[in-house]
Amino acid sequence: MADSHCLVPVAVATTVAQTHWAAPGGSAAAAIEARSLYRFFRAGEEETLALRGVSLSVMPGEFVAVVGPSGSGKSTLLACLAGLDDPDGGSVLVEGHRMSHQPEPIRARLRACRIGVLTQSGNLFDHLTVEANLAVAQGLGGKSSSEARMGLLRSVGLAERAGALPSRLSGGEATRAGLAVALANEPAVVLADEPTGELDIATEATVLRLLRGAADRGVAVLVASHSPAVASAADRVTQLVDGQAIG
Ligand SMILES: Nc1ncnc2c1ncn2[C@@H]1O[C@H](COP(=O)(O)OP(=O)(O)OP(=O)(O)O)[C@@H](O)[C@H]1O
Ligand SMILES: [Mg+2]
Repeated sequence: MADSHCLVPVAVATTVAQTHWAAPGGSAAAAIEARSLYRFFRAGEEETLALRGVSLSVMPGEFVAVVGPSGSGKSTLLACLAGLDDPDGGSVLVEGHRMSHQPEPIRARLRACRIGVLTQSGNLFDHLTVEANLAVAQGLGGKSSSEARMGLLRSVGLAERAGALPSRLSGGEATRAGLAVALANEPAVVLADEPTGELDIATEATVLRLLRGAADRGVAVLVASHSPAVASAADRVTQLVDGQAIG
């Protein structure tokens, strides 16, 4: 975390450095790591155990797919890894820093600086142009470079659509714009939830090439998906069944 904006406040940083740095023997080199995550949801009388002791880690440059039936816990796992949700048990480490069970400002800072997130419902602000969405993501990580924004948009084939509002994009363009936003801060980790769910085969292949390109540049990529194409593009596949990782 060389960028000064991305250093947590001194008092907190000291605490983080002293108490939350990955313990020797853990996967200290992992870009992101889940250790025995549990997550329960209660709605009235009904209780759902969405995650039951899920552990996984993704190394820099690795592309991992998480597959499993609907309701198996994929989105819950990604939300916990992104710090958008907090697990009821277990912990999440981002480059050795504990993300889980931290105050929201620390989780938000870690996420803004080190994690690019592409959620199932999309990650674009509807009232902002594609380029302005990238500028917001950069700003959250303390960066601002129109050259970098245009370079990213060129890399996802959207240079011509920089001034478009998300509502004017096709599904494939919106996904590629979302991916550009997820990459805007040069994150260590990209977490993508069903990024190709609504795309045709050719557009899916384009998005997978972009994710592979990010992994080849050293980003740890984790994608939750039902798609066999995603599983075959990945270096490794983890399967979730009833909230448990079985491979
Ligand atoms: N906020 C919530 N409140 C109550 N139950 C929830 C909540 N979020 C998820 N669940 C439940 O947790 C389980 C796992 O849901 P999750 O969304 O993680 O599955 P998924 O594998 O992503 O499914 P899909 O492939 O359909 O996206 C499901 O039984 C779901 O109903
Ligand atoms: Mg899901």
